[in-house]
Amino acid sequence: METPWDHRYAQRTQRMGSSAVRELLKLTEKPDIISFGGGLPAPDVFPVEDFLAACERVLHEQGPQSLQYSTTEGYLPLREMIARHTRRYGMHITPDNILITSGSQQALDLIGKVFINRCDRILVEEPTYLGALQAWNAYGAEYVTIPMDEHGMITDRLEEIVRTGPKFIYVLPNFQNPTGVTLSEERRRKLIEIADRYGIPIIEDDPYGQLRYEGKHLPSVVVLDGQFRHNGETPFRGNVIYLSTFSKILAPGIRLAWVIAPQEVIYKLVQAKQGVDLHTATFNQMVAYEVSRGGFLDRHVWMIRRVYGERRDIMLDAMAEFFPPGVQWTHPEGGLFLWAIMPEGLSSPEVLKAAIEQKVAFVPGGPFYACGGGETTMRLNFSNATPEKLRLGIERLGNVIKAQMEAKGMLHAQPG
Ligand SMILES: Cc1ncc(COP(=O)(O)O)c(C=O)c1O
Repeated sequence: METPWDHRYAQRTQRMGSSAVRELLKLTEKPDIISFGGGLPAPDVFPVEDFLAACERVLHEQGPQSLQYSTTEGYLPLREMIARHTRRYGMHITPDNILITSGSQQALDLIGKVFINRCDRILVEEPTYLGALQAWNAYGAEYVTIPMDEHGMITDRLEEIVRTGPKFIYVLPNFQNPTGVTLSEERRRKLIEIADRYGIPIIEDDPYGQLRYEGKHLPSVVVLDGQFRHNGETPFRGNVIYLSTFSKILAPGIRLAWVIAPQEVIYKLVQAKQGVDLHTATFNQMVAYEVSRGGFLDRHVWMIRRVYGERRDIMLDAMAEFFPPGVQWTHPEGGLFLWAIMPEGLSSPEVLKAAIEQKVAFVPGGPFYACGGGETTMRLNFSNATPEKLRLGIERLGNVIKAQMEAKGMLHAQPG
C-alpha cells in the first residue's frame, strides 16, 4: 500500500528492503522450530556470572566514568588489551591503530561511508557476507565477484577481475560466512601481491579467526601484508584494514568490535563515527575489558572451541547420515557455518518453505551472491542448537530435501 512517506525517502533507501527470505525467516523465531538460520552463538556459553561480577566492579570502582560520554576511538585499556593480544599474532600495532566500533557491522558501514562513492565497484567473494552488501548498498556500491572453491577465492582469476578497477577487495579468509571455507596461505600471499601491484586496498573481515577446531592457524592477511612490505615493523602501515569482534568470542549483545588500520585511516573512520553515535557505549567497553582481562578471554575461547567443534562434528555426521545423495557440503575447520549445495533443479527458498512446515529452518544461499545465483545453496549454522536438536533438525531437513527430490523425480536418477 502506498503512503505519503514513499516519496520522501532518499534515493539510496530504494535499495533497502525486506526480502521474501527474510519474511520466511521471521517464522523461524517460533520456539518449536529448530533454526540453523541465524549466526547466533550458543546461549549456554555466555559468561553471565562473569558479566555480573564485572558490572558490579565497574560500577563500584568507576561508576561515574562508566556512565559518562567518552572518546570516539574507544576505551584505552580495551584498545591496549586488543593491541597486546594482536601482537601475539605478529601484527605490530599500537592502540592508535585501533578504533572500537558498535559491532563489526558498524565498521562495515563506516568503511562504506568513508570509501564508497556511488557506483564504485567493490570486489567480493561469491558468495559473501550479506551484512556487508546491505551496508554498502546504501552508499550506492556496485559489485564484481570472484568465484571460490574449497580453498577460498580463486586467486588465479584475481588479476583479470582487479583490472575492472574495484575500490577495494573484501575478503573473509577464515571460515567464511556463509560457506565456512578458509583461504589458503598461498592464496593469501597472492591476494596481497596482486592488490599491492594494482594499488587496491583489502578489507579483511575476521570474526571467526580464533574459533578453529582443527588444522593449523594461518597468518591473517594483514600480518602477511605487513611482512610483504616492511617486515611487519611499526609504525603499522600497509594495504589492509582488519576487522574483528567480541560477538563470537564473548557476546554479541554488548555490540563491541574493533578496526585495525593505519593511523590516517583510523582518523577518517573516527570522523565518520562521530556523526553516527559519537562513541561506542562506555559502560559496555569497560565491562568487556573487566570480563576479558587476566587471561579470561583465552580460557573462554578454548571452551567455545570445544563446544562448537563438537557441534560441527554432530552436524556433519548427521548430514552424512540423513542427506540424500547428490547434496554436497563444506567441511569447515572452524567458525559457525557450513554450506550445502543441492542438485540443480531444487530451489532453496522452496525447500525452506517445506522445511518450516516440518519445523526446521536454514538460510537460502541466494542473497549472499552479490550478482545473483546460488539458487540451490543453503547456509547452516551449527553453533546455536543443542546437540540433540542439531541431529533432529538435520534429520528433518534431510527428509524435506529427499521429498522434494522425489517429487521432481530426481532421487532415482542419482547414483548410489
Ligand atoms: C563476516 C561478518 N562480519 C561482520 C559481522 C557482524 O558482527 P558484529 O556482531 O560484530 O556486528 C558478522 C556477524 O555474523 C559476520 O559474520
